[in-house]
Amino acid sequence: MVDTTVNIGSLKLKNPVVVASGTFGYGDEVLDLVNVSLLGGIVTKSLTLKPRDGNPPPRIVETASGMLNSIGLANIGVKKFIEDKIHLLRKLDTSIIVNIAGNTIEEYEELIILLEDHAGIDAYEINVSCPNVKEGGLAFGTKCDTTAEITRRVRKLTKKPIIVKLTPNVTRIAEFAVAVEGEGADAVSVINTLVGLTVDVKTQKPKLSTVTGGLSGPAIKPVALAKVYEVYKSVKIPIIGLGGIMNWSDAVEFMLVGARAVQVGTANFIDPAVGLKIADGIEQYCADRKLAQVVDLVGALKI
Ligand SMILES: Cc1cc2nc3c(=O)[nH]c(=O)nc-3n(C[C@H](O)[C@H](O)[C@H](O)COP(=O)(O)O)c2cc1C
Repeated sequence: MVDTTVNIGSLKLKNPVVVASGTFGYGDEVLDLVNVSLLGGIVTKSLTLKPRDGNPPPRIVETASGMLNSIGLANIGVKKFIEDKIHLLRKLDTSIIVNIAGNTIEEYEELIILLEDHAGIDAYEINVSCPNVKEGGLAFGTKCDTTAEITRRVRKLTKKPIIVKLTPNVTRIAEFAVAVEGEGADAVSVINTLVGLTVDVKTQKPKLSTVTGGLSGPAIKPVALAKVYEVYKSVKIPIIGLGGIMNWSDAVEFMLVGARAVQVGTANFIDPAVGLKIADGIEQYCADRKLAQVVDLVGALKI
């Protein structure tokens, strides 16, 4: 028997596979299709203080081995989340990580204050890095001092694990990881989407209404692996690796370069049960190699 559990700060995941923010709704849309209790965890769609309609269409385009999106953090807002969703999430037998995004630093604080009153949340993921919103978003995540300040301010408001989701759209992502580690973050998620653009040559217009969007899927996997590796060499806190994971073998690559857990995003749009298959595949890989625990894979890259 392989011990599949992994610790992210005080949060113990039953296995290292978590579904990524924005790709699994609030966990409720697929309950008839997927046995979510077999997942390590669910990261909910980014929540903002007020509900958001997001950006106008077209806001999703398929690209060569990937997807470009400019959803713009469309979400029901924190109050409706508390009223309509939290009670259901509480009943699921998997870890619930609530992802939050603010237009201002104060909004991150308000979000935590509102959510702290309610049972059923195991950890927070702080999205400082959405490339598709005018306010906040990348304007925060590409500034190291602002990213550190958001971490410092939310750290004071909760004892729950704080996971900061970093953007790859910076020169040295490890500097950001070091900064948030210094402010008490329990873990980092590496990476959010890369800024991308596609053009329709018939109309000579950008394919997305917002011109640029966030690139995800297999196209970004080698970039994501390099970022996880860079961060792994710089910090001691756990890394949750993501970017283009489509199967268990991709996930094992992330663990070998230093990720303690992984998130699966775009792949959920092809198969909402893919996370379960990835968790099984990682366990089988460890069993085949006679590893007692999946954490033995973390950073086991041979150079
Ligand atoms: C349609 C879509 C919506 C997303 N929405 C969010 C979001 O609300 N918050 C967030 O932190 N990341 C969001 N992401 C980014 C993913 O969580 C993930 O970081 C990224 O897609 C890379 O992983 P992947 O290649 O496995 O998809 C979104 C991605 C997609 C494709």
